[in-house]
Order: sequence, then C-alpha cells, then structure tokens
Amino acid sequence: MTDSLSIRDNRTGRDYELEISDGTIRAADLKQITANEDDPGLATYDPGFVNTASCRSAITYIDGDAGVLEYRGYPIEQLAEQSSFLEVAYLLLHGELPNQAELDSWMHEVTFHTFLHENLKQFIEGFRYDAHPMGMLMASVSALSTFYPDAANIADPNVRQDQITRLIAKMPTLGAFVYRHQQGKPYVYPDNRLSYSANFLAMLFKMSEPTYQPDPRLVKALEVLLILHADHEQNCSTNAVRSVGSSQVDPYSAIAAGVGALYGPLHGGANEAVLRMLRRIGSPDNIPDFITGVKEGKEKLMGFGHRVYKNYDPRATIIKKACDDVFDVTGVNPLLKIAQELEKIALEDEYFVKRKLYPNVDFYSGLIYEALEFPPEMFTVLFAIGRTPGWLAQWSELVQDKDQKIARPKQIYTGARTREFVPIYRR
Ligand code: SDX
Repeated sequence: MTDSLSIRDNRTGRDYELEISDGTIRAADLKQITANEDDPGLATYDPGFVNTASCRSAITYIDGDAGVLEYRGYPIEQLAEQSSFLEVAYLLLHGELPNQAELDSWMHEVTFHTFLHENLKQFIEGFRYDAHPMGMLMASVSALSTFYPDAANIADPNVRQDQITRLIAKMPTLGAFVYRHQQGKPYVYPDNRLSYSANFLAMLFKMSEPTYQPDPRLVKALEVLLILHADHEQNCSTNAVRSVGSSQVDPYSAIAAGVGALYGPLHGGANEAVLRMLRRIGSPDNIPDFITGVKEGKEKLMGFGHRVYKNYDPRATIIKKACDDVFDVTGVNPLLKIAQELEKIALEDEYFVKRKLYPNVDFYSGLIYEALEFPPEMFTVLFAIGRTPGWLAQWSELVQDKDQKIARPKQIYTGARTREFVPIYRR
C-alpha cells in the first residue's frame, strides 16, 4: 500500500493517482482531472476552510479530540503554570525558550518600546466617547503603519523584528488609551519600572496615586490569561493576518486585519457576548427557558462549541481554576453560579452532547475580566493583546515560507452570464 489516492473519474473512465502527504492531498493535483478539453480541471469547494490546510506551521499544535494544546511543543498547562507572557511570546516567535540573557534583553526591548507617538492621542480623541474599544484598537493598529513606513520592508529580518517588538510593546498602551478615552479619564503613560501585565493594569486603572500597586495575584491571573490567548494555530483572525500578510503588506496592516476578525461574536467577541448572555439570563431559574431557546435555534450558547475542540477546551479548564484565585481577591462574581449551572445542564443535554459542544476559552474568561473591573466591551481587547505574539509568529512564518503565495481562492460562479446592456429608458 502506498501513500496515494487512486481516483477514477466516472465521467471519462480515466484513472488518476494522487500523492498523500501529511494527511492531505495537494489541491493543485486535482487540476489534472478534466472531463473534456475545455474543462479547467477539478478544484475543491470548502466554505470556511472546514477541511482545508492553508499552510505548514511549527508554532502551535492542537489535538481537538484529546483536548491538547502545545506552543512549540510545550503543553499549555505547563506554560500557564511556570512561564510568563513575554517568555511565551519569545517562545512563539523564536521556537525555543529563551535563556536568562535572551529573556532579559527581550524584556528590556519590549519595556522600552511601550510609548506611542503623541499624535496617536489626537487620533484616538477623534472617536466618540462611546466608540467600541475594538473599533478604536483596529483603527489605531492600522494607523501605526503610517508612523513606521520602513515596516513595509518585510524582507529584512531586522525590520521585521523591530515591528514585532513595537507591536507587542504597544498593544497594551493602545488598549489602555482607548479604554481611558472611553472612560473620559486622562491617559496614563507606561511605567517602565513595572512588569508587562502590571504596567498594563497601571495604564488602565491608575488615578491620583503616585505609583499604582496592582495586587500580585491579579497580575498573575492576567499573565495566565494572556498566555492562554497567545496563539491557536489557524483560527479565523490568524487566517486573516496570513491572508492580508500574503500580499506582502506591512505587519501593522496585517495585524489590524486580525483585530477586525477577532472582533466578531463567533470568534474573540464571544467573551463579551458570554457576559451579556449571563447577565440576560440573570438567574439559574431562567436557564431551562434559555436552553430551550438555543435548541430552537433562536440563539447560540455563547462560549460553547469549537471548530477544532470536540472535547473540553484545555484553556477553559485552566481559566476556571484561575477564577478561584481572582475571586479570593475580588470576591466571587455572582454570575459564576449561572455559568456553572449552565455548563452542567449543557454537558448533560443531548443537543449539546450530540454536537460535541463544550465550554471554550471564552466561556469563563469574561467572569475574570469583569472581576478585574474591565467593562465587557474591553474583553476582546484583552484577547487581542494576548494573541498579538501568536499573530506575529504566524505572520513571520508566512513571510519566510517559500511554499506560500498571495491568497486568492477560486469560486463557483452562480451569477448571470454575458448579457446585453439595457439603456435605462428601456428598463
Ligand atoms: C474562539 O478557531 C479558534 O481556534 C478560535 C479560538 C482561538 O483561540 O482563536 O479558540 C477562539 O473563537 C472560540 C470560539 C468562540 N465563539 C463562541 O463561543 C461562539 C459560539 N460558538 C459557535 O458559534 C461555534 O461553536 C463556533 C463558531 C465556535 C464553531 O462553529 P463551527 O465549527 O462552524 O460549527 P457550526 O457552527 O457548523 O456548528 C455545528 C452545529 C450546528 O448545529 P446543526 O446545524 O448541526 O444543527 O453545532 C451548533 C450549530 O448550530 N452549534 C451551536 C453552538 N455552536 C455550534 N449551537 C448552540 N450554541 C453554540 N454555541
């Protein structure tokens, strides 16, 4: 038996042999299968790329059935427990954990690139007070490309590294600035004496106190959340980053596309939607009626289900544990009881069991974010800050992948064909 597929085209009786490698066939190999001389050859039709590999990647491994997630081969459970967000960012970008000198240098680089060009404040001032932070973040990341025109030279590894450092360093500052704009509060500039997550909390919440002192348990919880969100192979927003990046545009424009994709309620916007759903349910007594509405297709159980995980999302398990640590400091979020009861009922209900719908990363994260006093519209900004190293690692891998070409899928044309133009007086 060879690693190949024997295909008989019953339209012509012709036989073909296609190579199988890494569990796939090359779609281009189907083009040779034609029904007649005018036939351009077979292609595949796969809306949402449910069963299509777009790239080879060495960054993140997921086994959806087993509930396994590894960054560069390291299990997410170990990284969440023992690593830091910047160390994980280094791992995703370079493929190996840094030694002490490499980590110190990386942390210094990031710490000293957290400031934004002052013009960006005026840019953010242009938004309404109630503008959604994700809309402001997407626009601001895109605007960064105009401050660093040299970023267009993506063939230069040093130029790429400079932009990677800038983006990872500046995302928390951008996130904090759009939050402070929305709150009508003065901007808080980065404090280079603080760690990445502590500095982010200070830029968000510092008021008149000379130095903001976040509770170290909350800083640790935020670190864990950022680590858990850092990468997730070819999810919707990473696909957007790769697709836009395939045109060889600068990384700010590609990452802005990722922020836009993440904004959607089926993707990163789900954490905000979960909290609004829990608030709407309001009490465990209302859960049966809500579940009935979901089963009747009136709405989705947000925070449940996943394209890849057909088992518990390992990140949800870790976040559920992190809830306890945060609630020790902040007090238990009253919505936790509704979330736990909802999960219990859903995991026993045939509708969800049959469809293999389990809690995903977004189901419990919002409870922690709310306990950390973030408003729901900021939850996906936190997701974006966490995902930035992953997006950049994937973008960097794309730029260096000789197999890659500009993304330009085919279509099945269903519209009208060649018609004569009709002057308006005859329509
Ligand atoms: C993230 O891809 C990633 O890795 C994403 C992510 C990452 O780290 O980047 O993990 C982050 O985006 C997590 C997902 C957050 N989204 C949500 O929680 C929104 C709710 N979930 C869904 O919309 C849905 O589960 C998706 C979008 C996550 C996955 O959708 P798929 O794989 O396209 O599956 P589908 O929509 O075809 O659903 C299959 C069936 C359908 O029922 P039938 O048509 O077969 O009867 O399951 C049903 C769906 O209606 N279904 C749900 C449901 N999710 C799927 N029914 C009720 N509630 C849900 N949440």
